[in-house]
Amino acid sequence: MFLNTETPRAKELFSLDWEFRHGALDEKEAMDATAAGFSPVNLPHDWSIEFPFDENADTCGSGGYVTAGQGWYRKVFAVSLNARSKRIFLHFDGAYMCSDVWLNGAHLGGHVYGYTPFRFEITNHLNFGGENTVFVRVDNSRQPNSRWYTGSGITRDVWLEAVNEASIKPYGVYARTRRICAEHAVVTVDASIEFPCAEGLTLSSALLDADGVQVASTYTPITGSVAVQTLLVPSPRLWSDKEPYLYRLITQVRDGDEVLDHVETTVGIRSISFDSEDGFLLNGERVKINGFCVHHDGGCVGAAVPVKIWERRLKIMKAMGANGLRCSHNPPDPALLDLCDRLGFLVMDEAFDEWRRLKEKQHGSNTHESRGYSEWFDENYEDDLSAMLLRDRNHPSIVIWSIGNEVPDQTAQEGCLTARALKEICRRYDPSRPVTQACDQICAEPRPATQEFLNELDIVGYNYAGRWRTRSETFYDDDKRANPNWRIIGTEHSSVSGRRGCYGFNEALSEWSKPYYSAPVAIGKLLKFTLSHNYVAGDFMWTGIDYLGESHWPNHLSSAGVVDICGFPKDSYYFYKSVWNQEEPLAYVFPHWNLDEEEGSIVKVLCYTNCEQAELFLNGKSYGKKAKSFPSYGMTEIYGHYDRKVVPADTDDLFLSWDVPYIPGVLEAAGINNGVEICRHAVKTSKRPAIIEAALDAESIKADSRDIAHITVRILDEDGNFVPNADNDVCVSVEGAARLIGLANGRPDSMEPYNARHMKAFSGMLLAVAQSNGKVGEAKVKLTADGLVPAELNLKATEG
Ligand code: GAL
Repeated sequence: MFLNTETPRAKELFSLDWEFRHGALDEKEAMDATAAGFSPVNLPHDWSIEFPFDENADTCGSGGYVTAGQGWYRKVFAVSLNARSKRIFLHFDGAYMCSDVWLNGAHLGGHVYGYTPFRFEITNHLNFGGENTVFVRVDNSRQPNSRWYTGSGITRDVWLEAVNEASIKPYGVYARTRRICAEHAVVTVDASIEFPCAEGLTLSSALLDADGVQVASTYTPITGSVAVQTLLVPSPRLWSDKEPYLYRLITQVRDGDEVLDHVETTVGIRSISFDSEDGFLLNGERVKINGFCVHHDGGCVGAAVPVKIWERRLKIMKAMGANGLRCSHNPPDPALLDLCDRLGFLVMDEAFDEWRRLKEKQHGSNTHESRGYSEWFDENYEDDLSAMLLRDRNHPSIVIWSIGNEVPDQTAQEGCLTARALKEICRRYDPSRPVTQACDQICAEPRPATQEFLNELDIVGYNYAGRWRTRSETFYDDDKRANPNWRIIGTEHSSVSGRRGCYGFNEALSEWSKPYYSAPVAIGKLLKFTLSHNYVAGDFMWTGIDYLGESHWPNHLSSAGVVDICGFPKDSYYFYKSVWNQEEPLAYVFPHWNLDEEEGSIVKVLCYTNCEQAELFLNGKSYGKKAKSFPSYGMTEIYGHYDRKVVPADTDDLFLSWDVPYIPGVLEAAGINNGVEICRHAVKTSKRPAIIEAALDAESIKADSRDIAHITVRILDEDGNFVPNADNDVCVSVEGAARLIGLANGRPDSMEPYNARHMKAFSGMLLAVAQSNGKVGEAKVKLTADGLVPAELNLKATEG
């Protein structure tokens, strides 16, 4: 099968056609050729998501009440005889956790951290022209080892790579924008070369624009293990969050006309800086980072996340107006960073949640035993941090390195020394980006983060700045006065969280939930502060998207996000949209109008709007126009002159509210600018559930056993109105050229497993994910439920 020896470097996906067996086995037993119990899987693979939720699971609430344990993978493969002249590597993007790899009986080595890549040279262990067997043991049995859902298994892709003796080292190309002016940009390329002692080798670099046209090139003789080149790019198109323009860099090692190695790197030309007065500057202009934190799971697929899941989620967040993403609290799947480059997110890439000092892994009961990264920190931090930096440093989207999240070491005397050691590693591999740590103990009582620790950080990162004393009024201001040179960013603050479609009228409020009319008040205060203080570079809300784990039974997920685990927006999504997205007029009204309230009782109705005013109507009757005061607007040029109409405000909050009698019917908000209605949103009291509505987000998928399509399911009444509290049990079948790989409803306390074939709708909705099974042709998606008109969809699976 493998390898294309015609090309100077072959990199082939090695993720398909593995076999898996769950359970602890001794090595001999597992690797016995006759061992039974293995079943076929493709990678990425997460076995934990396949188990039912169990209150007694040793992953605890932190890990999402799933089963972990050990698992074995094996794959039989062949490598052609003519690949013999090459050096061959087996590369893992990530496996959670404590992996060990054997090839043809030889132990290649192990890797602990579940979020960093690792590789082995396998040249001398291969049976060229014959059969080879690779075994991987993944051991996630020491629990609880994380504060969130980790998944278990080879949760990221695996690759086989073949290179010549003279080649570029892994992650050996480092491209950096050095200077930008109107006429040109200067981009340097540092390439680390393997085997540089051969004479007469040259390194060539060519930069291609988005149309594939070469815009700059250079070549230099290779005289040592590092070659440094400079490219002058005329009239550069810059990368930004708004216009994420990308170039492609081709770097080749050559011997005369012969190409010995060929590496492609995505390049975005941009300048970044952080300033103690001006916050974050992108290409010389102040840009506020309106960001969100995100964990690595993809909802119903667990930790084995097809890239289209991220693509859909990021587009949803972008449409809200977000331009920043924090990979909390570990290096992400590399595919996520490619998407951030392409879609224009400003990324904070984070290495660790723990250094030497352990953290509690189960709410309220510290076992005094880590089982997490603190156990491995001393032995591994240098390799793991280096792996993240080398892998990620070419991404234009990344603007900050984070060496940790809320590490308890911030309050310890020696913590500053660890911070310094980690910062120095960042500098070694990438001096172009600043380093932060997300601190939650600044001014904490009784033991605050030490001044030495904070001074060590290029940017002081704040988690929950308003938590202590009167700081929910002043936020960063006290520190800013005391430390005028600090550069400051909000690395983590609560979002307006809660369950989609739940308002706490009659049902008990879950963890994370405040009453719907109160939740945006405190959040709005910080949001306004961040937006109106230039020195605050931005903020990352906790979280953008709900995530598995960090929960209390019977919840198995955290509803901290503004979109749920399915990627469906909650009301709070529109809160941020009304503030961050000024391009699309918005007047969003809620709660839904199928309330279980007595007719005539007074209900608080809220509206998120970016219009000057909004008017509320119930069954056609106006309840009046209202306006918010942010951002308020003053005189310009001369006293008494306003170049914008000033609309009298009703509130200093970032939302409008009316007290309205509950009368079933139609509740509407109209957004008004300059006295003219420009948008309208309505919620209607629906009749009983009658119809299943289903929509695919793609007409076709690739028949590659990897591509996916999302199916959004909504329950409607007989008139086609959405039923916001429908909970019908919907059966989903996918037949033909695709298979169902996950179902989710977004309900934190749902006990239905994500690999079920049927699931109850939650707040009227459900998400199904269908994946190619390798066949070309058509897949039929059928959705049925007792008493409802079914839905049927066709999905094509096409070659290539
Ligand atoms: C933060 C922490 C996050 C998450 C969050 C929950 O302190 O950094 O990982 O635990 O609290 O509110």
